[in-house]
Parts: sequence; structure tokens; C-alpha cells
Amino acid sequence: MTDRLHRLVYYSRNHVSADASSFQSAVDDILARSRANNARDAITGALLFNAGCFAQVLEGPLEAVEATFERIQQDERHSDVSLLAFDPVEHRSFPNWAMGFIGLSDRDAARFSGIATASGFDPARLSGEEIHRLLRDLTLEEEHAL
Ligand SMILES: Cc1cc2nc3c(=O)[nH]c(=O)nc-3n(C[C@H](O)[C@H](O)[C@H](O)COP(=O)(O)O)c2cc1C
Repeated sequence: MTDRLHRLVYYSRNHVSADASSFQSAVDDILARSRANNARDAITGALLFNAGCFAQVLEGPLEAVEATFERIQQDERHSDVSLLAFDPVEHRSFPNWAMGFIGLSDRDAARFSGIATASGFDPARLSGEEIHRLLRDLTLEEEHAL
């Protein structure tokens, strides 16, 4: 049972400095580590951010998802990690993405009814399923744009 496919969804508060160059290097580091580790561990998913928060979907074998989420929770580049969903699933939603990455502008957010607020995108107002669907739709758009 331990290798049964699971999907985990969380959001957190972004502590990466808003200064453009340090932000870019933090993002590059997170993505490089994620893509190397996740390819090794059979994890796929997507990561969404804006200035205030991260939202991420991880999918893969149960033990690998748990171990990855443990490491992520320890990371000081964010805090207040809130688990929204952690369930067995039949299929991957991000089979082609060791870690898709989407910086969500408020303009993008406005296209998704109900998720844009006066202060921008606020994942605290979304359910795990809504975040999952949002990231899946955005990564599918990316795939078609490639
Ligand atoms: C928002 C966020 C998302 C992350 N996502 C992943 C991930 O999907 N996979 C991963 O291995 N590490 C991820 N990390 C990095 C981990 O917290 C940790 O730094 C990394 O797994 C350590 O890997 P290493 O021991 O190989 O250096 C993420 C970090 C942050 C802040």
C-alpha cells in the first residue's frame, strides 16, 4: 500500500525577499532542488506563487510524498504551511511535470472566477480541490503553449 499514488495540496506564506535578484535566485534554487529530487522520487506536481504565498500540489507514491512534504515544511523560505488535501488518487494530474512553476499575476488570477481579491490571489480562500484544479489548468495551458 505504501507505494499507492497520493496527491497532497498545501499553501504557505512566502518569506522569500521581494527584492528581484534574491527572489529570482531563491526561486531558481527551489526549482532546481525540486526537479532533481522529484525526478528521483517519482514525484510530479506544480508550484504556484505570488508575492505573499505559495501553493503546491505534490503527487507520487505515499512514502515519497510524505518525505518530500516533511522537508518542505522545514524550509525557512516559507511558513504557516497549511495542508489542504492528502488523498489516494487513481491518476496523476501533472504526469509531465517534475515541478511545474507558475508565477501568478493578479491579471491571471482575475481570469479564474472567485480567486482574485483586492489584495491579489489568496489561496487561503480556496479548497484543496480548487487549488489542484487551478494548477492543473494553468500547467495544461503552458503545455499547449510550448
Ligand atoms: C515552496 C517550496 C516548495 C518546495 N518544493 C519542493 C519539492 O517539490 N521537492 C523537493 O524535493 N524540495 C522542495 N522544496 C525544497 C525543500 O524544502 C528542501 O530545501 C529540499 O528538498 C532539500 O533537498 P536536498 O536535501 O536535496 O538539498 C521546496 C521548498 C519550498 C520553499
